[in-house]
Amino acid sequence: MENKIKALIFDLDGVIVDTTQFHFTSWVVLAKELGFDIPMSLDEDLKGLGRIESLQKVLKHRAIDTPEAEWPKLAERKNDIYLSNISHLSVGDTLPGVIDFLADASSQGILLAIGSGSKNARPILEKLGITDMFNAICDGTDTTRSKPDPEVFDCACRELGVSPDEAIVFEDAISGIDAALSCGTLVVGIGDPDVLNKADMVLSSLENIKVGEIIHELMEFA
Ligand code: G6P
Ligand code: MG
Repeated sequence: MENKIKALIFDLDGVIVDTTQFHFTSWVVLAKELGFDIPMSLDEDLKGLGRIESLQKVLKHRAIDTPEAEWPKLAERKNDIYLSNISHLSVGDTLPGVIDFLADASSQGILLAIGSGSKNARPILEKLGITDMFNAICDGTDTTRSKPDPEVFDCACRELGVSPDEAIVFEDAISGIDAALSCGTLVVGIGDPDVLNKADMVLSSLENIKVGEIIHELMEFA
């Protein structure tokens, strides 16, 4: 039963690398430049959403309507702010436990993929020096529909040649958990169990946990 799992698919922001805070602070700066504030509570709602989908949520807090024709320019501005905020990223900046966890999975012949809505995923993986650890990468440049649509996880399963029920997704966002469940994978939440309560199991991080322990626990309840 346990060797039914052939692949692990990882969200990038907030699972592999701590970039979530930089996405949010970049939206805060953009809003400030436009003369309004966004509430801190928006952070959780924006996690996992694509760039334009996030912009639309941010602009709901603006007193005046923003014509759709201006959206691409504003999304590009947010991305410029974001890129300058993450310019320091380099090898070793993965979240605690990530490298050991990926190596543990690979050593058992388990396939690894990235399933991220970010158009910056590939350059970030390059900066972190971990591109080659993955057998497939699906990101915001390969997809047109933002999480919670399952497109990015469908893409990862297809690229790896596995069916969704042979894969486990690791996600820190509610939208990502919904996407994984729609795709038909098992899903491990990384973060607060009260927030990520739809996941099949929730961990605070990938530190000090073995791949086998997760598969064993998930299969026990499957
Ligand atoms: C991830 C992040 C989101 C971000 C999205 C698009 O899903 O969780 O916060 O909005 O990627 O990222 P991008 O780097 O393309 O703007
Ligand atoms: Mg994420």
